[in-house]
Amino acid sequence: MDAAASNRPVGVLLCLVIALSGVVFTDAELRRFPHPSKDDGSLSLLVVGDWGRNGEYNQSQVAVQMGIIGEKLEVDFVISTGDNFYDRGLKGTDDPAFEESFSKIYTAPSLQKEWYSVLGNHDYRGDVEAQLSPILRKLDNRWICLRSFIVDTEIVEFFFVDTTPIVDKYFIDPEDEVYDWKGVLPRRNYISNLLKELDSAIKDSNAKWKIVVGHHTLKSAGSHGDTQELLHHLLPILEENKVDFYVNGHDHCLQHISSISSPLQYFTSGGGSKAWKGEINWMDPKELKFYYDGQGFMSLQITHSQANFTFFDIFGNLLHQWTSTKPLLHSVI
Ligand SMILES: *[C@@H]1O[C@H](CO)[C@@H](O)[C@H](O)[C@H]1NC(C)=O
Ligand SMILES: *[C@@H]1O[C@H](CO)[C@@H](O)[C@H](O)[C@H]1NC(C)=O
Repeated sequence: MDAAASNRPVGVLLCLVIALSGVVFTDAELRRFPHPSKDDGSLSLLVVGDWGRNGEYNQSQVAVQMGIIGEKLEVDFVISTGDNFYDRGLKGTDDPAFEESFSKIYTAPSLQKEWYSVLGNHDYRGDVEAQLSPILRKLDNRWICLRSFIVDTEIVEFFFVDTTPIVDKYFIDPEDEVYDWKGVLPRRNYISNLLKELDSAIKDSNAKWKIVVGHHTLKSAGSHGDTQELLHHLLPILEENKVDFYVNGHDHCLQHISSISSPLQYFTSGGGSKAWKGEINWMDPKELKFYYDGQGFMSLQITHSQANFTFFDIFGNLLHQWTSTKPLLHSVI
């Protein structure tokens, strides 16, 4: 037996010990969910945000249209951009809001797919661990909610980012709200680790399309406007790594903003329930391609060469469509 072979069991044991201790490696990378695209290599999905209100404020009407459009497009999964349960997240894993605002609302057969979800600021006002708990998957196996994670469909890699901890005001001026920061403190470490992990995950990605999803706006003409902390911390990572799209909720509207300085496109799908805020800060039409103050949702159909974003209202009317294209050329090996 040579030396290397005799050392092997020790090496394996060492790896096992490190893996079990879970400190060094498991926290260092974003969890990754492989999700195959269709046989023809395309992918279809719906995006909805800011929704959980027991069906009220047209939540149920949005859900019905999602079911109809979802069937037409044969959607592979649904993305939730956060603020999943109003007004203060879930109280626990046994909170009836989970059924009443989710399971019993999005009942259409086409929506019985994975729901990849991030947390919004309202979710942080409840029991965050409960909303992230795998126990909810036993109640409804569609529910996949984590703070930050990756969905890898090969042609597209989706990077889900927990944006609430990055926003100062919830810490500095929470008003009368109590936020559940368990697992987030010390905040500075949390943010810097998150940004580092995100940056390296995007750099490692070979996907044709790269899409970042978060709850908060980067840019918005809605009442919340731009999120300065994200412009400062997140946008440089997106631009440097040539991310194609940023998708968010938070402003209760449907919106498409184009950037003048880069190819990055911004899509807000936050019309899952309460809307009609009536506060719009009109921007340069070269940037603001579309704004709808009411309820609705967005679809995305994507192939190697094309990404189609479409916005729908509660009647299923097509409000706005945007197509981005990429050359079909394969990279030279
Ligand atoms: C529901 O949608 C209709 C049609 O857009 C709108 O007129 C109505 O105000 C909405 N209701 C609420 C509570 O937002
Ligand atoms: C995108 O939309 C255009 C125009 O509606 C359509 O011709 C094309 O087939 C669509 N592509 C995908 C991938 O859905």
